[in-house]
Amino acid sequence: MTRFTVVLVLVVAAAGLLRWRRPAWYWLTFGVTLAVLRVLARYRTVMDACGLTVPPARWRLALARAANRPIPEARPPRILRLRPTRTGLVLRLKLRPGQDAFDIAAASDRLRHSFSMYGVTSRELRSGVVEVRMTGYDVLKRVQMPAETDSRPMRVPVALREDGSVHYRDYRAVPHALTLGATESGKSVYQRNLVAGLASMDVALVGIDCKQGVELFPLGRRFSALADDPDTAAEVLDALVERMGRVYQLIRSQQRITSDVPDAEIAADIWDLPDDLRPVPVVVLVDEVAELALYANKEEEKRRDRIITALVRLAQLGRAAGIYLEICGQRFGSELGKGITMLRAQLTGRTAHRVNDETSANMAFGDISPDAVLAAIQIPAELRGIAIAGDSSGGWHRIRAPHTSLRQAVNICNRHADRTPDLPELAPFRPALPGSAPDSALMPLVKASSATA
Ligand SMILES: Nc1ncnc2c1ncn2[C@@H]1O[C@H](COP(=O)(O)OP(=O)(O)OP(=O)(O)O)[C@@H](O)[C@H]1O
Ligand SMILES: [Mg+2]
Repeated sequence: MTRFTVVLVLVVAAAGLLRWRRPAWYWLTFGVTLAVLRVLARYRTVMDACGLTVPPARWRLALARAANRPIPEARPPRILRLRPTRTGLVLRLKLRPGQDAFDIAAASDRLRHSFSMYGVTSRELRSGVVEVRMTGYDVLKRVQMPAETDSRPMRVPVALREDGSVHYRDYRAVPHALTLGATESGKSVYQRNLVAGLASMDVALVGIDCKQGVELFPLGRRFSALADDPDTAAEVLDALVERMGRVYQLIRSQQRITSDVPDAEIAADIWDLPDDLRPVPVVVLVDEVAELALYANKEEEKRRDRIITALVRLAQLGRAAGIYLEICGQRFGSELGKGITMLRAQLTGRTAHRVNDETSANMAFGDISPDAVLAAIQIPAELRGIAIAGDSSGGWHRIRAPHTSLRQAVNICNRHADRTPDLPELAPFRPALPGSAPDSALMPLVKASSATA
């Protein structure tokens, strides 16, 4: 008996320790079984308490009366499936007549408390069937991406959603995207994750990083072109517009529409072309976009207009030519001048990291979903990397990318350096391999800072 007590105390202590220090392990060892038992045991009572039951059908009442049996109880939605996952439980429910998916969504916070889960979200799968996703712990606190993800060409598993599912950046579904956030909110880490995800795919990467290239140049071996100042950026973008024109000519030359060509084989974008003819898709990553739109004199104003026009053209026409834009910045609104709101309207994917004011959040979601604006403002400053990701359909999720360090990203890019395609139009902008000795012109700066340290 004492031995049993000792073992029990040890198991409980181990469970408590795991729950505190390693919630993900706790969930896989103890949490999942306890949660399944808790949900099954409490299901009927909880649904009743949350107002999610319906009174029995008339024929049941009539039958009970005729047979002189007790009146049947109110019934909760039927459980079609209960599936444990790496981070929580997925419950598939068949609604009763008179219920709708909104009832479940509105009760999700009550369900969360009643089942003692960390988070509960729901979505309608089809008419009458709702999926309730529950998470057992805060999956965004320490992001661990699942080893197996459903990656396809041009679809990068970039972050984890708060319901434990993977958030993908799918360039073919959402060609262009905008990522906003205050300084130190995690934009560059998010972009680094994208680069690391794209590195192993057949894609050309083009980077524009006006922070003198500090974020993207270390990853340069996987980039086909890099620009670190607005002048080079203007030239790179012009070269991309020229490339776009040539890709369209190629697509046109391959169309040859005759009556015996099946509809599905008529090429309208690069993905309809045969593999051996398809030009490599290009992802253009722009960090600190506002730098491209600011100017101090007439000369710079001309350059700014050239850059914004090229970006708008790429955003409007680039998709079918396989050119995708990924734009990051702290703010991206009409105060940056003409053409900006037009460009923003073309950037379908929206991600907002922590922002300092409602106006910045509005730049990402004002025209999509007021709820997402509120959620973006509420992101706490200490949780860097948390973001709200939405799209133009109005849906949004809280996400967080894994904390990929610059070194990890550099290693991934170097490993896949042989995949870097040579684009003839962009050859002059191919980054030179970084040297180890600092530029002699910078030495006084280094000395000055080490003297003050
Ligand atoms: N997903 C994440 N998980 C954990 N920590 C993160 C995450 N994203 C960012 N951080 C932390 O926040 C710091 C700042 O991130 P990052 O450089 O991406 O910010 P930023 O928004 O690009 O800032 P800036 O506008 O100044 O360039 C990182 O050094 C890292 O420590
Ligand atoms: Mg940054």
